Amino acid sequence: AKFTYVDKDTCIACGACGATAPDIYDYDDEGLAEVIFKADGNHGNTEIPEDLYDDLQDASDGCPTDSIKVADSPFNM
Ligand code: F3S
Repeated sequence: AKFTYVDKDTCIACGACGATAPDIYDYDDEGLAEVIFKADGNHGNTEIPEDLYDDLQDASDGCPTDSIKVADSPFNM
């Protein structure tokens, strides 16, 4: 299983993640990224569907500030 959240303290709102993985990430009112799944609230506790693993990896690799956190277990943020 895969889980993800965005560290908003280091996100610089570059916009790469939402372009790469629009089904996972979106932006808040300040342009900072967050996990899109409504029930998740960027807490990193929602299991990412397997068909989005490639997007997840690409977004994680593409973030210039390493703000996209990915793990095999829930973050419980
Ligand atoms: Fe922020 Fe990185 Fe996305 S800087 S907008 S989390 S690609």
